[in-house]
Amino acid sequence: MQELKIVLPESEMPRQWYNILADMPDPMEPPLHPGTGQPVGPDDLAPIFPMALIEQEVSQEQFIDIPEEILEKYLLWRPTPLYRARTLEKHLDTPAKIYFKNEGVSPAGSHKPNTAVAQAYYNKISGTKGICTETGAGQWGSALAMGCALFGLECKVYMVKVSFNQKPYRRIMMETWGATCVASPSTETKAGRTILEQDPDSPGSLGIAISEAVEAAVTGDGTKYSLGSVLNHVLLHQTVNGLECQKQMALAGDYPDVVIGCAGGGSNFAGHALPFVRDKINGKEIDIIAVEPTSCPTMTQGPFAYDFGDTVQMTPLLPMHTLGHTFVPAPIHAGGLRYHGMAPIVSQLIMSKLIRPAAVHQLETFQAGITFARTEGFISAPETNHAIACAIQEALKAKEEGKEKVILFNWSGHGLVDMAAYEAYLGGKLSDYTLPQEEIHRALQDIEPLPKPKQYHPGTVS
Ligand SMILES: Cc1ncc(COP(=O)(O)O)c(C=O)c1O
Repeated sequence: MQELKIVLPESEMPRQWYNILADMPDPMEPPLHPGTGQPVGPDDLAPIFPMALIEQEVSQEQFIDIPEEILEKYLLWRPTPLYRARTLEKHLDTPAKIYFKNEGVSPAGSHKPNTAVAQAYYNKISGTKGICTETGAGQWGSALAMGCALFGLECKVYMVKVSFNQKPYRRIMMETWGATCVASPSTETKAGRTILEQDPDSPGSLGIAISEAVEAAVTGDGTKYSLGSVLNHVLLHQTVNGLECQKQMALAGDYPDVVIGCAGGGSNFAGHALPFVRDKINGKEIDIIAVEPTSCPTMTQGPFAYDFGDTVQMTPLLPMHTLGHTFVPAPIHAGGLRYHGMAPIVSQLIMSKLIRPAAVHQLETFQAGITFARTEGFISAPETNHAIACAIQEALKAKEEGKEKVILFNWSGHGLVDMAAYEAYLGGKLSDYTLPQEEIHRALQDIEPLPKPKQYHPGTVS
C-alpha cells in the first residue's frame, strides 16, 4: 500500500512560530497614523490590541515561543495531516506529485483557529473581557468564537451581510460557541449607519465590517478588537502550518518546486508559505504563488500604496497592494477573499519578487472544487478552491512540459457549511464577474491624496 498521508506525532508539533520580519531582504515600510502621517507606535495600538500582540507585530526575533496554554489548545487538532493527492494526479494524468496540507480538520473547519486561540489567549492574560471582530464568509468569526469559548471571553462578530444571508449555519456555529453575530453594515455602530444612509442595500464588505468592529471595541467596556488576517502577528501565528509542513515533506522524501495558497488578507497563504520563502531567501528555487479571485484582483492589478485597512478610515495606513478602501468587491461565494487590501508582508514579498500573485475566475474555482471532491473526496471551502484551481493549472503545465514537479498547496478549509454555493454552481446559477473598471478607478481616487510608500507601484489597473 502506498503512503497517502504524512502524520506527525504530537511531540513533533512546532514549539515556536517563524517570524519572517527577521529575514526580509527589503525592509518593510512602517504603518502610518491616519491623523499625523507618522509611523504608529505601540501606544497608538494599545486601545485595540493587547500589548503582547503589539510586541509580536513589530518583533524582529526570528522565532517566537508558543506559550504552553496555546500549545495545549493546538493539540485539539494539530499537527494536521499532509496528504498526497494520488487520485487527483491520476485523474489529471500528470507526472507532477501533488501534496496538500489539510487545515480543515480544526474544530471550526479552517486554518483560522491557529491565530484565534493565540489571540484569545493573549487577550485573556491581559484582562480583556470581550473581543469584537469582523468576518467575511464566517470562517474567521466562527474560529474566534471557538477561541473565545476555550478561554472564557465574550465575542461579538460583525458578519458581511451578503455572507450572513448566504451562510446562516456559520452564524449558528458562532452562537453555539457563545458569540453574538450581527449582519454588517448594521445600525449598531456609527460606521454602519453612515454606510446604510449612503446605500441601504449595501451587501457589506470586509472593510465595512472592520470599521464596525473597531468602533465597537474602542467604545465598549473592557473590549478589544481582533483581526483574522493581514497583520504581522496573525501571519506569525499561522506559520505553525508551514513549519509542520516542512517536517512532513522531509518525511515524504520530497521538497516542493511549487507552493500555493489562496489569499484574501494573506494569512493562510503566508502561514503555509513563509517558512518556504525563508528557504528561497537562502537559495532554494521555489515558485511560490498567492491566488486571488479575478473579481477582486488586489495583488495582480492593484497598486502598492498606503491605504486604510477599513472603509471608514479608522485603522492605520498600511503599505500594501490595494484596490482602495471604498472598493466593494462583487458578491462572489469566496467571501473570505473579498478584501480590498493584502497583508503588508505578502505585498512586500511580491515587491521583492520572492512570491508571485495569480488570479482565477469563480467558475474555474468551483470546477476545480468539484474535481477535487470527486477524486480526493473532500469538499473544499470556496476560498480553498482558488488554491486547488491553481494547483491543477500547475499540474497540467507539468504534464505539458513533461516535468515531474512537486506541487504543494494549502487546503485552507472544508466547505461543508458552504453548500448553498455548491448548489448554485451545480444549478448553473453562478457566473464570472467582469471587473468594474470605473468602480476601481473611483475607489483608487480616494487613496490618491494619501502618503505614498518609497516603493510605490501604480499597479496595472488601467
Ligand atoms: C477557508 C478559508 N481560506 C482562506 C481564507 C482567506 O483568508 P486569508 O487570506 O487570511 O487566509 C478564508 C477567509 O475567510 C477562509 O475561510
